[in-house]
Amino acid sequence: MDGKGCPEAQRKERRFWVPALIVCFLAFLFYLGIQYISCKNLFMAKWGLCKVGSGDFEKQWLPKSALFKYKLLWMAPFLSGGGYGSEAISFATAIEASKLVPQFKIQQHGDLENYEFWSGLPQKIRRLLVRLAWRDFNVEETVVICHSEPGAWFPPLYQTFPCPPFGYEQPLYVIGRSMFETDRLNKEHVERCNAMDEVWVPTQFNIETFARSGVMESKLVKVRQTVDIEFFNPTQVHPLPLSFNWQVFGPSKNHSNFFSSKPYVFLSIFKWEVRKGWDILIKAFLQEFSAEDDVVLYLVTNAFHSSSNFDQDILSFVNKSKIIEPSLGWPTVQLCDHHVPQIDLPSLYKAADVFVLPSRGEGWGRPHIEAMAMALPVIATNWSGMTEYMTDMNSYPLPLDGMSEILEGPFKGHFWAEPSVNSLQGLMRHVYSHPVEAKARGLVARNDMKICSCF
Ligand SMILES: *[C@@H]1O[C@H](CO)[C@@H](O)[C@H](O)[C@H]1NC(C)=O
Ligand SMILES: *[C@@H]1O[C@H](CO)[C@@H](O)[C@H](O)[C@H]1NC(C)=O
Ligand SMILES: *[C@@H]1O[C@H](CO)[C@@H](O)[C@H](O)[C@H]1NC(C)=O
Repeated sequence: MDGKGCPEAQRKERRFWVPALIVCFLAFLFYLGIQYISCKNLFMAKWGLCKVGSGDFEKQWLPKSALFKYKLLWMAPFLSGGGYGSEAISFATAIEASKLVPQFKIQQHGDLENYEFWSGLPQKIRRLLVRLAWRDFNVEETVVICHSEPGAWFPPLYQTFPCPPFGYEQPLYVIGRSMFETDRLNKEHVERCNAMDEVWVPTQFNIETFARSGVMESKLVKVRQTVDIEFFNPTQVHPLPLSFNWQVFGPSKNHSNFFSSKPYVFLSIFKWEVRKGWDILIKAFLQEFSAEDDVVLYLVTNAFHSSSNFDQDILSFVNKSKIIEPSLGWPTVQLCDHHVPQIDLPSLYKAADVFVLPSRGEGWGRPHIEAMAMALPVIATNWSGMTEYMTDMNSYPLPLDGMSEILEGPFKGHFWAEPSVNSLQGLMRHVYSHPVEAKARGLVARNDMKICSCF
């Protein structure tokens, strides 16, 4: 048997093994191919981070461990003072501090420069931005980040410095960073997103709204926002003496008695637009409180394609919605339309007891996380960007009455949230009568911001 009976068996074995090996080898090649295809769209893959099925790929922060091999040009409205600008500054600060990117340059794009904002920045930040903007840079092998609303991306829908810029005809990779506050995107925004190699959004909410509107899922990556917890640090600042010179309702509160008998301050910071739900806030506050309550609603606002007769807008809204003056008199509502320099923001939050903003939708909610980092309890709408970081443990998510359709402007036909006035009254009353619980939630909030902010 031995030797003689074998050739047949051996042949059989070989007949089995050779195709099996070939199949294995092909399967291996196939696997590499799949890996390549599903990774090649991921910027992260270049840093050695890749996960098959990029749809659920979720990277909270740029990875600390990975050494960035590529030059990075970050284009954003750094000096415009809006939400994108503040976010871009916090990214730039974090990237520079991490020392991970060998060559990193920034460039203004997407909006006009705002001198008032620039001059209110801490000197350390101004120096950093100047240094980053004037850096020498050669353009080969560069990753470009276009950080703005997609209407500013090439070809821009209005006049702005193009992104990706001329002279970078062949960037290695172009990433759009954006966000949006309604339930969908317009078609021209979807097209510009799909022309990017990748699109970074801050929230799961936007992963869903962008994908539902037609942005390719394989391009969507979640990269959350950072907040500077050293700068927004409640132990480092004193409360700002609030100015009480634009009183709309109620008994006057002023400097002379502010610190001796400080009222309970509800602070809100927003641009004067329907989206921010100032009507909901005024209604809830005036219906819930009266002159008997030791409360102030302190509104820090500025005009946004709107008039700046904020008090007139409020008075006619109150008149129109038939809100009746309580028998004990109106509670105090104060307006402030001075530009608050960035450097004073921490002290402004510090002067408040609660941050409240019943907006109808937010891409992220920059003041919200600043307030949370400052250990304030936050009352804000339980929809859109806020759902990424607000929980029942660290804040007071405000329930909705439902969704409402936007009736005018460029986003006519989109839907956003209609926060509940009744619930807002209940929550404001609740924090006022449970200040200890509210403070404790603020502390949880600061802790959560610390965890989120490790770059
Ligand atoms: C400050 O408020 C107190 C009590 O409301 C009032 O008596 C006083 O006249 C006010 N002072 C100024 C400067 O408005
Ligand atoms: C309130 O509205 C009524 C009409 O509904 C008008 O006559 C009145 O002048 C308004 N008052 C104010 C303060 O706007
Ligand atoms: C906020 O919304 C989520 C999702 O709709 C829901 O599960 C959660 O209970 C809501 N939280 C509050 C406090 O209403």
